[in-house]
Amino acid sequence: MLEELATIEADALIALTPLEDEASLEAFRIEYLGKKGRLTAAAAGMRHLSKEEKPAAGQKLNEVRTAITSALDAKASALQAAADAAAVAGIDVTLPGTPIPTGALHPISQVLDRSIAIFRRLGFALATGPEIEDEFHCFDALNTPEDHPARNEKDTFYFGDGRLLRTHTSSVQVRTMEDQAPPVRIIAPGAAYRRDEIDATHLSQFNQLEGLFIGEDVSLADLKGTLEYFFRAMFGEDTEVRFRPHFFPFTEPSLEIDIKLHAAGKTAKWIEIAGCGMVDPAVLEQVCQSRGDRLYDPEKFTGFAFGMGLERIAMIIYGIPDIRHLIENDTRFLSQFS
Ligand code: DAH
Repeated sequence: MLEELATIEADALIALTPLEDEASLEAFRIEYLGKKGRLTAAAAGMRHLSKEEKPAAGQKLNEVRTAITSALDAKASALQAAADAAAVAGIDVTLPGTPIPTGALHPISQVLDRSIAIFRRLGFALATGPEIEDEFHCFDALNTPEDHPARNEKDTFYFGDGRLLRTHTSSVQVRTMEDQAPPVRIIAPGAAYRRDEIDATHLSQFNQLEGLFIGEDVSLADLKGTLEYFFRAMFGEDTEVRFRPHFFPFTEPSLEIDIKLHAAGKTAKWIEIAGCGMVDPAVLEQVCQSRGDRLYDPEKFTGFAFGMGLERIAMIIYGIPDIRHLIENDTRFLSQFS
């Protein structure tokens, strides 16, 4: 019996040596360690042994089983290691990886995010309104007479049923006051549309940022302080901000804002950047009529409003010479701002 077991062990170790693949290892396992394998057969012979012979035979059986099992395991892992090495042979693991292209925010989105953050610090909430508007919210409520050039067929996209693409975000002023009780302190960024010839400084769809502050005793000084703060935060602390008298139908007085940038190596010049003014009492009166109450009584409330173009701001901040770059989605251009 002991001899037989020794022979099985010796046979097994010789048989294992040349094996090279999983299938032959499995055949080997079945032949030696399987239920009908040689060790099991030898173990069956135990019952013919005398009581004295049994313990030694049992011990030898276990030793042989362990020896064959661990030789098989060692062989299997050696084969696996060789296969792994073969799989990466010829691959230079020190080469840099292939970069995965990442997206980035469009310059307009970056300017918008910064603007919102600055106005949020001043307590302005975000408001929205529809891009498809009616003449009341776009013009009439904003004190813009029938014969105003902005209402011209040539300048505005009309649908022919009284609706139009809003020519400015100022319509959101009216919608916000219709929906909310005063005081109001909102900014309303969004698209505006005009039938402009597209060139280096004009698009027919562009982005504005509107602002409205209505409360008791809101003054021109509040307007100036707010917008000076905004433009300095946006363009740099030493930016000069200038207010010039202007005309808008919905504000009185109305002003235009210029900024003067002190960029290194460039001669500073004044650039028009926004329109603003004190909300015309006629606008508050229209809102009262539309609401059917006196909550926005112009005897009680005053306020200021402003509007600016986001493309213009982005072009100044990033030195973009042509507004059309902003809508062409050429990643060679856009990736400069990532
Ligand atoms: N809506 C004006 C435009 O599109 C910009 C503007 C001027 C908005 C003065 C205002 C304002 O709120 O007070 O040119």
